Order: sequence, then structure tokens, then C-alpha cells
Amino acid sequence: MLTGQRILLIIGGGIAAFRALELIRRLRDRGATVTPVLTAAAEEFVTPLSVSALAASKIYRDLFDLTDEAEMGHIELSRSADLIVVAPATANLMARMASGIADDLATTLLLATDTPVMIAPAMNVRMWEHVATRRNLATLIADGVTVIGPEEGAMACGEYGPGRLSEVSQIIDAITARLTDGPLTGRHVVVTSGPTHEPIDPVRYIANRSSGAQGAAIGAALRDLGARVTFVTGPAEVAPPDGVAVVRADTARAMFDAVRAALPADAAVMAAAVADWHVENAGAQKIKKGDGGLPSLTFAENPDILAWVSGAEARPPLVVGFAAETEDVIAHATAKRARKGCDWILANDVSPGSGIMGGSENAVTLITAEGAETWPRLSKQETARRLARRIADHLA
Ligand code: C5P
Repeated sequence: MLTGQRILLIIGGGIAAFRALELIRRLRDRGATVTPVLTAAAEEFVTPLSVSALAASKIYRDLFDLTDEAEMGHIELSRSADLIVVAPATANLMARMASGIADDLATTLLLATDTPVMIAPAMNVRMWEHVATRRNLATLIADGVTVIGPEEGAMACGEYGPGRLSEVSQIIDAITARLTDGPLTGRHVVVTSGPTHEPIDPVRYIANRSSGAQGAAIGAALRDLGARVTFVTGPAEVAPPDGVAVVRADTARAMFDAVRAALPADAAVMAAAVADWHVENAGAQKIKKGDGGLPSLTFAENPDILAWVSGAEARPPLVVGFAAETEDVIAHATAKRARKGCDWILANDVSPGSGIMGGSENAVTLITAEGAETWPRLSKQETARRLARRIADHLA
């Protein structure tokens, strides 16, 4: 519940602005008060009257509205909330926020506030992927802004990809997590994610395929339930989530050291695709073509981090491993659970036809001492939320 929580909702101008109406209704159902602020562009998509009626509040639109200044100055307005939520956050709003521009009421409030800020971006996929938006996003995250979404899917403009506003229920969950204690508050969870790169020489490496998408989603889902997350990541394509302690570890040996240093923990979720071997005779200099024929690499085994954690003196009460398999998924994963000594294994089929490797969805089977439980094919975010809830229930 959000009883008594005060939310200043800045509605940006985008096709997703209409979903702010549902957000207002659901926030109020949960006991929050919502003070809406509309940008000029937002008024092209939703009417001030409908926003005001749903919020049961005056809406704020114009910086130079003297009546508003007489009632409540913009500085006061910016600080009279427990959380500022920007939904939808357009590329333009994000750019203005990132560069500290205050040229309308919404951006002035955002610049003047000392209240936590959460944004739910929504825009065309090309705009989301543009280097300028990536840069602005990184700046906003570094500034302490919490980012929820966007989701991947079909867009109003007919394109497909990341850029859709998160589901209203997800935005509500994120707001609730930001404002209230979650079931994992006070718990520490170590998550590993991404691949490791094992050098052959200073320019070449061997690695497993891994985007880091599932690990990042798990880190975010655990954080949203209140956990303190140590996120040990290899060189992944997907950025680590905001609001977690990020430890970068390029090789399996570095990851092992990082995980050891991160214990004790209440749970460990080992989602990294760790290389099984490193090159023992890695070159200190780039190996040149033609110098005495083809190079011959000698491999040495990497530490098995999951097996080590499962048997460690400071073993977390819950250890979760992953099994990426291409055949006999459940049988292999069940055997792996026993071999590694972990409590749960999340098994998935990563055979080339499954579209899971590097994709946005996952289809997993949770293997525990009680047996195997197959989950439906879900977005990696939803898979992560299910896992996080299971972890919270287990540790409760
Ligand atoms: O043995 P395999 O690599 O298939 O095991 C997969 C599981 O073990 C994953 O949870 C992965 O994060 C973990 N693992 C590890 N350290 C290794 C190899 C795998 O933690 N060296």
C-alpha cells in the first residue's frame, strides 16, 4: 500500500501519456495522493480535465501561472512530494533533465527538487537506442534517478523493439519498492551476470555467449523487493541495473575473487556464463600470424564459483545456479544441481532455435529438491520478478 505517500507525477508528451491516467487511478487506489504536472506536449495527448478529474487534484502546467505561485511556489511544489515520477519520460524530457535545462514547469521542478526521482521512459526504438539517449540515460542514472523500463514490444509507430512504457503494474511495483520496505529489505544477495573473457593474448579472448540481460533483470528485481544487491558482472552487453553495488570482473578468476569478497550473503544467484577454462599459456604480447605456424593453446580449468559457494564455510542459506543446455535440459540440470551442491537450478534451453540466447524472453524450469517446475515463456524481466519473489518467500 501507498497510504499517505505523495507523488508528483510529471506527464511527458508521448503516445503513452494516456497510460498515465491508469497510473493515477491505480496509485490513488493504493492510497497515494497524486499531484499531476503536464508538459505542453502532454496536453496534446491527454486533456488536463481528465487528468485533474482522475487525480482529484489541481493540475500544474505553466511556470508563469501566477495563481499557482500565489498558492504554492514551484520550489515548494517540487519538494512537497515523497517521490517525483516522470511517466512517460520522452527522449526530449530525458535530454533536458540530463543537461539541467529548466525551461518549463516540469523541468524546473526536476531541477529544483531534493526529492527522489523515478522515470519511466517511452519513445520510438530508434530514439531510445540513439547514442544521445544512451548518454543521457547514463547521466541520469549516475545522478541517482531510478529508471523503470522501457519494455520491448510492438510500438504505436509500427516498429518493434525497446521503447514501450513499462506496464502500469510494473511502474506501481517500482514506486512501491522505492517508497516502502520490501520483503527483502535488510537482505544481501550476490548476483553474478554476463560472460567472462579469458585472454588468449592482449587482444583476443575466449568466452561464452551471454548478453547479461537475465542477470541484470534479476539484480533489478531483487533490488525492487528491497534487497541490497552485490552485482558481480563480466563484460556484458546489457548495463548493470541502477541501485545495486556493481563489481566488475572480466575473468572467471576475478569473478571468483569478487564473489568470495562479497560474502556473507543471504542468497547467491549465479547467472553468469563463466568460461570453464582459461588459457594457461596466454601471450603477454599479441601473438603474430606466421611466427612458427599455428599457435597452440593450453587450457587450465577455472574455479567453479557456483560449486565453491555451495560448499563454502560462509555458504549463503540459498544458492541458485543456472543451467544453459541444448538438449535433455531437465535431466542435465537435475544432475547439475546435485553435482554443484546448490539449492535451486534455473534450467533453460539455449539451443539455436529457441531464440533465448541474447533475446528478450526466457523459458525456464526451476529445479529444486522437490522436483522440476516449468514456467511459461516470459520476458526476462518477468522471469526475474518470479525468481525474486520465490527467493523472498524462501527467505521469509
Ligand atoms: O557447469 P556449468 O558452467 O554449465 O554451470 C552453470 C552454472 O554454474 C551457472 O549458474 C554459472 O553461473 C555457474 N558457474 C560458475 N563458475 C564456473 C562455471 C559455472 O559459477 N566456473
